[in-house]
Formats: sequence, structure tokens, C-alpha cells
Amino acid sequence: MERKISKAVLPVAGLGVRLLPATKTQPKEMLPIVDRPAVQYVVEEAVASGIENLLFVTGRGKRAIEDYFDFAVELEQELRNRGKEHLLEEIRGVGNSAHIFYVRQKSPRGLGDAVWQAKAFVGEEPFAVLLPDDIIVSDTPCLAQMLRLFTDRPGIYVALIEVPREEVTQWGIVKGREIAPRLYVIEDLVEKPEPEEAPSTLAVVGRYILSPSIFDALAQTPPGKGGEIQLTDAIRRLLEKEPVYGYRFAGEYFGVGSKIGYLKANVAFALRREDLAPEFRAFLRGLVERGLV
Ligand code: UTP
Repeated sequence: MERKISKAVLPVAGLGVRLLPATKTQPKEMLPIVDRPAVQYVVEEAVASGIENLLFVTGRGKRAIEDYFDFAVELEQELRNRGKEHLLEEIRGVGNSAHIFYVRQKSPRGLGDAVWQAKAFVGEEPFAVLLPDDIIVSDTPCLAQMLRLFTDRPGIYVALIEVPREEVTQWGIVKGREIAPRLYVIEDLVEKPEPEEAPSTLAVVGRYILSPSIFDALAQTPPGKGGEIQLTDAIRRLLEKEPVYGYRFAGEYFGVGSKIGYLKANVAFALRREDLAPEFRAFLRGLVERGLV
């Protein structure tokens, strides 16, 4: 297997039902965490991990993502007219940091089907998948941590977090054997099991390293939970043929595709911002003092 990974796929064609009504007319990936769309954090993680080529799998109603990573000619001119050149770099940087490609998933038939759309882009190389509604804060970018492992030990990788047992019904859960700190050989994967059937409380989150063999596996994968073609079902098919590893990364995870995760991420990111944190912290303290928190 070729060891250098330069391509990443970002599926953004989901409906975002959990964030309705906000997602009725705008992509959930464009909802801001403080002042940047969620998708920007994930693009920055990919680029900081050495990814050069990014493919967005988009769908109906996702045009705002393409526009965001394009030049905004009129806006740039207007900022110049108003003497606000300092903002130019900020709005330009996002689209300049990697080569960005787009393909459409014609209907949202599941994450597995979204990844399938990347077949021609990927070719015969291993590649990364990042889900923009999973934001990870860490000293070393989560994907970079995984790529480092991949270099020494090629295979398929999924990122893992520990979840409370009562929440396993919302996740893809792995059965794994720990072979090094944080690193597991995956023996089985179950999509959204009942708590009593879950083989562990280690859940798959949106960072993957996949091999091109995933496309054959996807082609043979029928719709699973929720009537969708599940990526975890296709990875399961590869368990016998290729090493599949799970990595409990070092970092803090925010699932911003749910309302509660979205709110938590906004608070956590605002508290990290030097320009906002002092006033925001005082506001939160005020809430605590008034017994509202
Ligand atoms: P989610 O499980 O978060 O689904 O998808 P969703 O449809 O976007 O959101 P809800 O559950 O309706 O609120 C995980 C990732 O896979 C993409 C999503 O855009 C998200 O990044 N996805 C999902 C697709 O690209 N296509 C699909 O058919 C389904």
C-alpha cells in the first residue's frame, strides 16, 4: 500500500435534520462556531495534517460551501473601498490553502454512498475522510496523529471516542483489542447497537483513513440502519482482508451536528478566543451568580 496520503474527502451532502429549522435553507456545515463556519475548522485540520487535495461531496442546497471557498470579488472590492484591507487575508486564506474539488451526491443515501462518489478522485491511493460536523481540538491535529500511525503501520483507521453506555444507540461502536496506548485492532463494528448488545463504549467519529478497497466493499453493501448505506458496514466487510485500527485520539471532541453539541462548541471556542473570552467569561459568571447555571 502506498504510504503518503495527499487526498481527503469531506462529505457534506447530509440533510442536517437534527439542526432544523436552521438547516432548512443553509448547510449545517456553514453554521458558525463563533465566527467561522464549522467546515472551516475541519479544512484547517486537513491542511495542517499535510493534505493537499480536498474533495467535497456536496448535494442540493450546499452551494454556500462552494462560494465560501471561492474568491468573493465584490466583497473584496467593497472591503478595499472601505479601507478594511486587514480583513482580506482572513476571507481569502480559507480557499487558498489546498486544491478543492467538488462532486455531487444526487440523493442523501448515507455516508457510505457519499464516500462512494469519491471513487474517481481517489484512484488507487489510500485517502482520508473527515466529517465536518465533527470538530476536534488538539495540540497535534487529529488527522495528523492518525497519519503518523498509518506511516508506521499501514491499514484502515477510524477515530474513536469513549461514550456513556446509554448513548451507544447513536453511534457506530467497535469491538477492539488494545495493542498500544490508545490503539486498537478492530475485530467488529456495529452501527447504533442497543446498550446491552454493544461490544464496548468506544464510538467511531468522523476521521478515517481508508484504502481504495473500500469502494468494492461499498458496492456490495446494502442499505443498513436508517435505510442508509453505512460506511461502517463497508469497513466491517474489510475486517477479514485488511488490518483495521481504531485510535482513541488525544484531543477534545465536539459533535456540532446536534443542537447540544453545537452549543457546547460555541461556548468552548469563545472561551479560547483572546478577543472574546474576558467579556464572555464575565457573562457566564453572571449567569452562575444569578443561579441560572
Ligand atoms: P450525519 O449522520 O450527521 O447525517 O452524517 P446528516 O444527514 O448530515 O444529519 P442529520 O442526522 O440529518 O441531522 C455524517 C456526515 O455524512 C454526510 C453529512 O453531511 C455529514 O458530514 N452525509 C450523510 C452525506 O454526505 N451524505 C449522506 O447521504 C449522509
